[in-house]
Amino acid sequence: MKILVVGGGAREHAIVAKLRESTIGAVDDIYCAPGNAGIAKHARLVPIAASNTVELADFAQTIKADLTIVGPELPLMLGIVDEFKKRGLRIFGPTRSAAEIEGSKAFAREFLTRHHVPSPRYAICGSFDEAERILTEGELGLPCVVKADGLTAGKGALICETLEEAVAAAASLLQGKRFGKAGERVVIEEFIPGEEVSFMVLCDGTRAIPLASVQDHKRLKDGDKGPNTGGMGAVSPALNLKLEIHKEIMSTIIIPTIAGLSKEGRPFSGVLYAGLMIGADGKPKVLEFNARFGDPECQVILARLKSDLASLLVAVADGALADVKVEWAKEPAVCVVVASEGYPENTIKGREIRRLPDAEEGLQILHGATTLDGQKLMTTGGRVLAVTALGASLPQALNRAYAAVGQIELEGSQYRRDIGASALRRLGVA
Ligand SMILES: Nc1ncnc2c1ncn2[C@@H]1O[C@H](COP(=O)(O)OP(=O)(O)O)[C@@H](O)[C@H]1O
Ligand SMILES: [Mg+2]
Repeated sequence: MKILVVGGGAREHAIVAKLRESTIGAVDDIYCAPGNAGIAKHARLVPIAASNTVELADFAQTIKADLTIVGPELPLMLGIVDEFKKRGLRIFGPTRSAAEIEGSKAFAREFLTRHHVPSPRYAICGSFDEAERILTEGELGLPCVVKADGLTAGKGALICETLEEAVAAAASLLQGKRFGKAGERVVIEEFIPGEEVSFMVLCDGTRAIPLASVQDHKRLKDGDKGPNTGGMGAVSPALNLKLEIHKEIMSTIIIPTIAGLSKEGRPFSGVLYAGLMIGADGKPKVLEFNARFGDPECQVILARLKSDLASLLVAVADGALADVKVEWAKEPAVCVVVASEGYPENTIKGREIRRLPDAEEGLQILHGATTLDGQKLMTTGGRVLAVTALGASLPQALNRAYAAVGQIELEGSQYRRDIGASALRRLGVA
């Protein structure tokens, strides 16, 4: 089997490394576009940007790829799946119209309302005057969340404590064009306090199989302080997801969403990722949907996956999940992201990574933003490395990951010291 993976972060490195373990899927050749220095050890790099959907389809056609796996959201929103399907090429991911559940927060909100999926109260505004009026009327209360409609790499949701802050946030999006076209409309939402959980399923258009549970760590700094990021670490299983809630999420959120998308002529194939808040009443509400694997959630999920990844993703792409069973390792997995100085606001790129620990059984040093400059390993972005470890217990997995993180030499690097700390507290270990 020939496989093309689209993307160049640690999520795609995890996918490529897992495909290399495939035994029953008979994976022969793996290509990755554009990839990075770490991915180059497991796959042939193809110098085509993830956003260049037509050239990617040409390439897949030339090599006769049996499967293409799309990591990031941007190519999905640009219609990569539609382009591949038009040419009869097999691809893992949702079409553009299905991916709109992530690509437009306004579409998602109205869709969820149509299908009675539990959500915060919201308003959609296309002009600053409208936003100011809605904020001043105060129906949504304070704090509130002002969100850009389109894709913003995790930077477009602004939590506002006061009316002044909220009005300023709306102005920065609608008048200041802070996120360009992505912020031409905003969604203003009531703020739901509670416990945040992520819930991911594999979906083949009609059926859904839950993936292993994950807790991510979105804030930059320890103790969930500092700005939101793309994600600074993850732990699987998520100890904050109880079984009863699991069932309720499936029945009140996931199943109606998949059925609704089908009914509206946008059947969803790929990973459907629900970002949820469990409120004080114990009921889950949808904060947002993503249309792909989370990064770094993917890293810990794949570390625990015992089933063959290639066969699983082929079954999703072929709409054939009916008889598929997915097996998970009992061992917990953790991922600690090592980021560049200045990330997320003013990332300093182009620094040399002077020392990198070796991977070993149960420990992966996944590359997120690296390139080789001769013999030198250089950084190319914010989230540089994702150190991912399995362990017999959560403390063991954490010790293994942090021992490796401690060996990395990168000037100005930042990482959280408390990945998994809330899970440890739940276990009564800390
Ligand atoms: N209605 C809400 N109530 C409380 N917190 C929210 C709400 N909406 C978003 N958040 C917080 O903001 C973060 C980012 O919002 P989200 O909708 O996931 O956008 P994105 O991931 O595109 O930045 C969430 O992970 C959550 O912590
Ligand atoms: Mg989110």
